Amino acid sequence: MENNRRAALPDPLLASDGTRIQTPEQWAGIRRSEIVELFRKHVYGRAPLDRPENMKFVAVEESTGWMEGKAMRKTVDIVMEGPGGSGVIRLYLFVPTEARRPVPTFLLICNRRAENADPDRQVLSQFWPAEQIVERGYAAAMFNLKDVDPDKYDGFKDGVHGIFDPQDVPRPPDAWGTLGAWAWGASRAMDYFETDPDIDHTGVGVVGQSRGGKTALWCGAQDERFAMTVSNDSGCGGAAISRGKQGETLQNINTSFPHWFCENFKSYNGREEELPVDQHMLLSLVAPRLLYVASASEDTWADPASEFLACVEAGPVYRLLGLEGVGASTMPEPDSPLHQGSIGYHVRTGKHNLTEYDWHRFMDFADRHMKARA
Ligand code: GCU
Repeated sequence: MENNRRAALPDPLLASDGTRIQTPEQWAGIRRSEIVELFRKHVYGRAPLDRPENMKFVAVEESTGWMEGKAMRKTVDIVMEGPGGSGVIRLYLFVPTEARRPVPTFLLICNRRAENADPDRQVLSQFWPAEQIVERGYAAAMFNLKDVDPDKYDGFKDGVHGIFDPQDVPRPPDAWGTLGAWAWGASRAMDYFETDPDIDHTGVGVVGQSRGGKTALWCGAQDERFAMTVSNDSGCGGAAISRGKQGETLQNINTSFPHWFCENFKSYNGREEELPVDQHMLLSLVAPRLLYVASASEDTWADPASEFLACVEAGPVYRLLGLEGVGASTMPEPDSPLHQGSIGYHVRTGKHNLTEYDWHRFMDFADRHMKARA
């Protein structure tokens, strides 16, 4: 069964004109951009712009003495304007006081309510254990995705869609959906990191849980400035292979969340096998940079086996670029992380969630592969 599933997947190393991709140059010059384009056209849609010309970073606050003196906090507003109005993405950063500058950083795309990632540290949650991130020598950065685009289907009127979409013209079927908007927002945080001398912008990992994990993957796939991309329990439309997937299907996700993907994606409901891509190809776009995929054993809706399969099937691209992928072809036991290759993977015992266990494994992997470079 698993072999049949694998055989039915599109080949990341076969270009659409039939060219077999055999060198890193062919990958970078031909196939990588072709795959990005396929995901834009058929899955997440196309952002109408990169960095807005008039975008500004406003330092709202900077203070020391956080986390018993171990961190400073910065609050930065990313302010933007477009034909449909203006908007602000508020970015929070806790930077370890003692660490050598510039500091490698984890950026959390927060998809939950404020108390899960409290910038005032009144409520502490496993979802964003900023104290522990700082303790391990990383800066902990976070924004909430509702600042970029509220998570509701409103015909793309609010958030950055309303600000930047061309006015008074019909929306094309490959216009960006809400996941695409959120991923774009994470790239704007990277624009800020590039200006902050405390932050090592060449050592940033973008992290997301579930819908945030789908977003982190699409962000890391497109924006090669991120050194590491982390998907936690991202499932359907994230790390999980769509063909033959258990739990949530394209039909389910496009029905419950009609605003997440582009309109074209809906035409693949119940016809996953017609898609010119599958999610292992999204993962392969992160190569040769670091990728981490995490699953949870009871998360049958996301389907851990399909998430792991995508890691295995992204392997040929990593190997073409001279690196090991996930380094195994059978799924590891729960709580037995695979960290030796450039794709890290674990399946945590338990439910759909982002926990301290997950964060510490991301940091173990980053210590081994990212910090080691510094
Ligand atoms: C729903 C949705 C998933 C998504 C999850 C989440 O369960 O079906 O695709 O990942 O919400 O974001 O928590």
